[in-house]
Amino acid sequence: MWRDIVSKTAIVTGASRGVGYEIVKQFVQAGYQVVATARNKEYLHQLTRNAPDQILPVACDITKRDQVEDVVNQAISKWGQLDILVNNAGVGHFAPVEDLTEEQWDEMLEVNSKGPFLTCKYAIPHLKETKGHIVNISSGAGLNAFANGGGYCASKFALMALSDALTQELKPHHVRVSTICPGSIKTNFGTPKDWALSPEKVAETVQMVISSPKEVIYGQIVMRPQVP
Ligand SMILES: NC(=O)c1ccc[n+]([C@@H]2O[C@H](COP(=O)([O-])OP(=O)(O)OC[C@H]3O[C@@H](n4cnc5c(N)ncnc54)[C@H](OP(=O)(O)O)[C@@H]3O)[C@@H](O)[C@H]2O)c1
Repeated sequence: MWRDIVSKTAIVTGASRGVGYEIVKQFVQAGYQVVATARNKEYLHQLTRNAPDQILPVACDITKRDQVEDVVNQAISKWGQLDILVNNAGVGHFAPVEDLTEEQWDEMLEVNSKGPFLTCKYAIPHLKETKGHIVNISSGAGLNAFANGGGYCASKFALMALSDALTQELKPHHVRVSTICPGSIKTNFGTPKDWALSPEKVAETVQMVISSPKEVIYGQIVMRPQVP
């Protein structure tokens, strides 16, 4: 992989496993400095051991305002700038609406839509300074609703609306917003399917959108597995 000549600083949420872990790995390979965040401190510290000079692990529940503000503050105190925010943390509960619990509904809305709102709220002033980039990991479920996905789809549709509004608000400031909508990915998020996308491919797509020429915005990227 080519190394960026100018080092960039990124915050990646949901970095303890799955897609977020791969995004951090590829950012490190590209020479970026990364604040890796999730709730599981042990997994974050395991990840950091691979590149202690480039990864700052910060435990954070993305639904808690003060913890999110602290993540952004730690990124700035450590590296003095913020270029990239990847909103990747997510949860999914799949059941018919009559069986979905209120707690499951609330958790999905809190993690999948309020979390990105909070990270953006505190990161945007710094991203304006660097003409940075926000990448939201949504889902095909953010574009098309399906049975048993009432809560999950609602939370990802909300993320799509937030992304669209942010695109318009931040365009005059040269901060780009990209939203990636993958189909099934081979992680422990649900029941992994053989034909699902690899987390590496999703991470490569994140790299692709942030490496686009400055005058180009990749808005929505829909990724589907090549199902035989
Ligand atoms: N897997 C799929 O089939 C699929 C398809 C399309 C889109 N997506 C989306 O892709 C993203 C990554 O999913 P994945 O497959 O990598 O899932 P995963 O393996 O289950 O990882 C989810 C990540 O989110 C973090 N997280 C969950 N709740 C959190 C909270 N309250 N605060 C902070 N972090 C929290 C988890 O860390 P902790 O538990 O340590 O906090 C973990 O790092 C999600 O947004 C998901 O909706 C997944």
